[in-house]
Amino acid sequence: MSAQPKIQQLNDKKAQSRLGGGQARIDAQHKKGRLTARERLDLLLDKGSFREVDAFVIHRTHDFGLDEQKFTGDSVVTGWGTIDGRLVYVYSQDFTVFGGSLGEVHAEKICKIMDLAMKNGAPIIGLNDSGGARIQEGVVALAGYADIFLRNTMASGVIPQISAIMGPCAGGAVYSPALTDFIFMTRNTSYMFVTGPDVVKAVTHEEVTQEELGGASVHSEKSGVCHVAADSEADTLYLIRKVLGYMPQNNMEDSPFVTTTDDPLRMDDALNQIVPDDPNKPYDIKEVINMIMDDGNFFEIHENYAQNVVVGFARLGGHSVGIIANQPAVLAGVLDIDASEKAARFIRFCDSFNIPIITFEDVPGFLPGTFQEHHGIIRSGAKLLYAYCEATVPKLTVITRKAYGGAYCVMSSKHIRSDVNFAWPTAEIAVMGPDGAVNIIFRKELESAKDPVAKKAELVADYKEKICKSLCSGRTWLY
Ligand code: HXC
Repeated sequence: MSAQPKIQQLNDKKAQSRLGGGQARIDAQHKKGRLTARERLDLLLDKGSFREVDAFVIHRTHDFGLDEQKFTGDSVVTGWGTIDGRLVYVYSQDFTVFGGSLGEVHAEKICKIMDLAMKNGAPIIGLNDSGGARIQEGVVALAGYADIFLRNTMASGVIPQISAIMGPCAGGAVYSPALTDFIFMTRNTSYMFVTGPDVVKAVTHEEVTQEELGGASVHSEKSGVCHVAADSEADTLYLIRKVLGYMPQNNMEDSPFVTTTDDPLRMDDALNQIVPDDPNKPYDIKEVINMIMDDGNFFEIHENYAQNVVVGFARLGGHSVGIIANQPAVLAGVLDIDASEKAARFIRFCDSFNIPIITFEDVPGFLPGTFQEHHGIIRSGAKLLYAYCEATVPKLTVITRKAYGGAYCVMSSKHIRSDVNFAWPTAEIAVMGPDGAVNIIFRKELESAKDPVAKKAELVADYKEKICKSLCSGRTWLY
C-alpha cells in the first residue's frame, strides 16, 4: 500500500500545527505589534537550523470545553537549532493557543527540551508569552510549572539559561524566567507580573495598566527583574544571539575566542585624561571600559538599573570577560543595596561559567542612612562580598581612584583572592575620605585652632599624602 495517504495526513497536521490558534488569533497577535511563536524562532535561530519536537501532541483535559478546542502541538513550540553555528535548545510559547497558558502537555514539552539541554550541555532559551498556569487544567498545570522550576534550579550554573518576555506573562511564566540567568524584555509589548491588572483590581482595588504594573521600563529601571530591554522583538532576539557569544555552552567549557585587530599592548594616552584630579568630580567609567576592551565593545547588563555600578560582558585579547565597575557619574559610584545585588549576581554567573572578572574600582564606600540600613544593606553588601570571595575564576582589579573603607575590601581586593590588582597614579586607598577622617582623628586640634579652615586644609593635605597615596604597601601594584 502506498504511503501517500499517511504522508498527506502528516502534512495536514504540520499545517495545522503551524497555524497555532488559527489565522484570526495570529492576526490579532500581529495587530498588537507582536510576532507569533514560530516567527520569533525564525529570527532567533540560524536560518533553517530549527528542529521541532512534539509538534503533534494535544492536551489531555476534557473539562471546561477543552474537548472541543484541540490545537496540534498545544500552546508551545519546542526543539533545538543553532545560533552562530552553536547548538541551543529553545521553547517558544504560543499566545494564540489558550493565551500561551501552560497545561500538562505544554509543561512536558518544555521539560523534555530542558532535559536534553542539560544532557547535551547546551544553553536553553525560553521565549515566554503566557498567562501562566492553564486555569482549566488545575493541579496538573501547577505541577507542570513546579517540574520546570526544579529543572531551572538544577540547570543553574551548569548551562546558560536565557529568558525573553515577549507578551503579557503572569504567574509561572514569570517565576520560571526569574530562576534563569538573564531576562530580556521588549518595550511596550511585553509585561511581567505575578497576577495581571484584573486580579490586582479585584484584590487591592488598585487600577493599573499592564505597562504600569510590569512593563519593560518598570522592570529594567525599578525592580531590576529585567536585564536587557530592547525596542522591538527583532532587537530583543538579536541581542540574545549577541549575548550568547560571550558565554560557553556549559560550565565545563570556555567561551568562544574572537580574534581582534586591537593590539593588546597598545597605549592609549586618552586614558590619562579621563579621571579628574579633583576626587569629587564625576566621570564616566564606561569611557574607560570602552577604551580598554577589544574593539570598544561592551555588552551592558542592567544598563538602566542601579546605575552606580556597571556590569556587562566584553572581550580582552579575544577572551570573554565580565566587567564590574563602580560608576562615579552616578551617586559617586557608592555601593547601595541594589548595586550590591546587581554586581553579586553577575559575578556568580561569571564564576559559574569560567568567565574571568575585571573590576574597575572607584568607590567612596557603602551608602549610609536609615533607608539603606532598614532595607538590609548589610545583607546585600554581604552578598557582594561573598560572591567575590567565592569566585575562583581569574580576577583582575584596577583602582582608578577611590578605594575607601569596606568597599576597598569588597571590590575584589587582593585579600579576597583577586589575582592581580593595579592602582592607577590617581588611586587613593584609605579607611575613609580625607574630610571625614580629619574631622574624627583631629577633632581637638580643629576645635583649638586659631584658623580652623586653614588647619583643616593642612591636615587634609597631610592625610592624603600619608594615607591615601600609600601605594607601595605591596597590596596593589603601581603601573
Ligand atoms: C487559561 C488563559 C490564561 C490562563 C489567559 N488565557 N490566561 N487561559 N489559563 N492562565 C486565555 C484567555 O482566556 C483568552 O482566551 C486568551 O488566553 C487571551 O487572554 P486575554 O485575557 O484576552 O489577553 P490579554 O488581555 O492580553 O491579557 C493577558 C493576561 C490575562 C494579562 C495574561 O489573560 C490574565 O491576567 N490571565 C491570567 C493570568 C494569571 O493570573 N495567571 C496566573 C496563573 S497561576 P480567549 O479564548 O478568550 O481568547 C500560575 C501559578 C504558577 O501561573 C506558580 C507560581 C509560583
